[in-house]
Amino acid sequence: MQKREVKVYIAVSLDGYIAHSDGNIEWLDSVARPDEDYGYAAFIETIDTVIMGRKTYEKVLSFGGDFPHAGRDCYVLSRTERAPDGQVRFFSGPVEELLNQFRSRPGKDIFIDGGSEAIDQFREKGLIDSYTVSILPILLGEGIPLFKESKKELPLKLVKAIPFDSGLVQLTYEPIDE
Ligand SMILES: NC(=O)c1ccc[n+]([C@@H]2O[C@H](COP(=O)([O-])OP(=O)(O)OC[C@H]3O[C@@H](n4cnc5c(N)ncnc54)[C@H](OP(=O)(O)O)[C@@H]3O)[C@@H](O)[C@H]2O)c1
Repeated sequence: MQKREVKVYIAVSLDGYIAHSDGNIEWLDSVARPDEDYGYAAFIETIDTVIMGRKTYEKVLSFGGDFPHAGRDCYVLSRTERAPDGQVRFFSGPVEELLNQFRSRPGKDIFIDGGSEAIDQFREKGLIDSYTVSILPILLGEGIPLFKESKKELPLKLVKAIPFDSGLVQLTYEPIDE
């Protein structure tokens, strides 16, 4: 059975934030182009399972409209136990147990959507296979940092770097096997 990879795919300001402190992400619109999806459609085609933190989930819901991950298994990390919300299930145990559930059956890759607290749960345990980070040409000045502080260094190798006309640069890294 092919290994189901765990992937981060996220946008960040040049100074390393994924949102303003109040959760505002309107600055992401500065690179929106009608004819450019920055590889998202191709990326999401590799995914059948999405994991996000509760705050990101609430942000997604606040946009209204159709849930963007309809048709995919979706798990929201929350320390408060909750009944499923349609196709979305809530999870409060150790994240490696969640991954083990998926990896015992065949499927596509697993997308850690964010935010930084959710990513940190996987990063600290060395569970992320690739990081695709789209750096936007903006300095936010303050906000929620993509990566939380950690006592563990994680050496990475760059596997792809794509500059776009909008000024966004997309970098993909993988941990160096030790
Ligand atoms: N720039 C981008 O591409 C991008 C992408 C994604 C998100 N964002 C933004 O990031 C912001 C949110 O990021 P964030 O880091 O503050 O929050 P987050 O990771 O989205 O959610 C944090 C919540 O996840 C739950 N959680 C975290 N670790 C857990 C664990 N081990 N077990 C159980 N539950 C756990 C907790 O929920 P409870 O409080 O319910 O216990 C915690 O409050 C939003 O503004 C969002 O829009 C930006």
